[in-house]
Amino acid sequence: MGFPLSRPRRLRQSDAWRRLARETRLSPDDFVYPMFLVPGKRVRHAVESMPGVSQFSVDQCVAEAERIAQLGVAAIILFSAPAEKDARASAFLDPDGLVPQAVKGIKAACPGLIVWTDVCLCSATDHGHCGHVLPSGAIDNDSSVETLAQVALNYARAGADAVAPSDMMDGRVLAMRRLLDRSGFATTPIVSYAAKYASAFYGPFREAADSAPAFGDRRSYQMDPANAREALREVKADLEEGADMVMVKPAGPYLDVIRRVREAVDVPVAAYQVSGEYSLIKAASERGWIDERAAAFETLTGIKRAGADLILTYFAPQMCQWLKEAR
Ligand code: PBG
Repeated sequence: MGFPLSRPRRLRQSDAWRRLARETRLSPDDFVYPMFLVPGKRVRHAVESMPGVSQFSVDQCVAEAERIAQLGVAAIILFSAPAEKDARASAFLDPDGLVPQAVKGIKAACPGLIVWTDVCLCSATDHGHCGHVLPSGAIDNDSSVETLAQVALNYARAGADAVAPSDMMDGRVLAMRRLLDRSGFATTPIVSYAAKYASAFYGPFREAADSAPAFGDRRSYQMDPANAREALREVKADLEEGADMVMVKPAGPYLDVIRRVREAVDVPVAAYQVSGEYSLIKAASERGWIDERAAAFETLTGIKRAGADLILTYFAPQMCQWLKEAR
C-alpha cells in the first residue's frame, strides 16, 4: 500500500501524536554517571576539556553523589587519579585508597545509589598503560590480569555494587570472578567493558583521569575500530568467563556493534558515550553551533534505539533534570 493511501506524516502532525507513536523513550533509569576522584579535601576541580565535569576529592564526591541521586540518577561509576603512581599500580590495591573511601562514603550517604567501580591500571601506573609493561615495552597480559583481579577485590571489599574492568586484557573477567568467589564476593556483579575500541574519542577523559600513556598507544589491547565480528567474540568470551553485563565503548560511532551485540546475547548491554562524544557536543554548543539539549537527546536516543539497555554518559544528571522538565 503506497501513497496516497499511506501517509506516514499523519502520525507526526502534533506533539501529542508523536508521543503516542514514539518507539524509544529515555528515562533516568537508563543512565550511569562517571565521576572522577582526586586526592585532597574540599576539591572540585573543573575538567577543562569536559565542561560541566569536575574532579572531586572524596568528601566532595560524596556530596555530589547525594545531589545527583536527588535528581534521579540511579547509578554512578567511579574513576580515580591517585597522586602516587608506580610501575605496579600499587595505589589501587590500597584498602584506604580514593575509590574504597568514596564507595564507603557514598553507600553510607545514599544506600540506594548503585556504585560501580572502574577497574583498570592506567591512572595508577607511572607509564599510563592499562597493564604491566615488560622491559621490551610489551604489555604482560597474564600478570596484569592477576593485579586487576586484586584491584576488583579491593573495591568489592569496600562495598562496590559492581566492578567494571576496562583494561581489555585477555582473561581478566575469569580471574576476577574466581578471586571474588573465593573471597566471599560471589554476589558482586562484573560489568565488562567487553568491546572497547582504541578510540580517538577518549582524549578528554585522559585529562580527567590523568591516564594518558607515556609512550606508545593502546592498540595492542583495545580493539581495532574497523572490527565488528571481533566484538562478538570478545563479548562471548567475557560471558563465558562470568560477566553479568557487557559494554560497547565508545557508543555513537559503534551503533552497529551495539545492535549486533544486543541481538547476540541475553544479558543487559551497556554503551559508553565517552568523553570525546560529550565534549564535541559541549564545544559546539558553547559556540552556538548546535543545540546542546537536542543533541544530547538525539545521540542518547540513537544509542538506546540501537539496542543499549544502559548508557554511561556525562549528561546523566543534566538529562535527569531535562526529563523532569519535559514531563
Ligand atoms: C581506562 C578508561 C578509559 C576510558 C574509560 N576507562 C580511557 C582509555 O582507555 O584510554 C574512557 C572514557 C571516556 O573517554 O569517557 N582504561
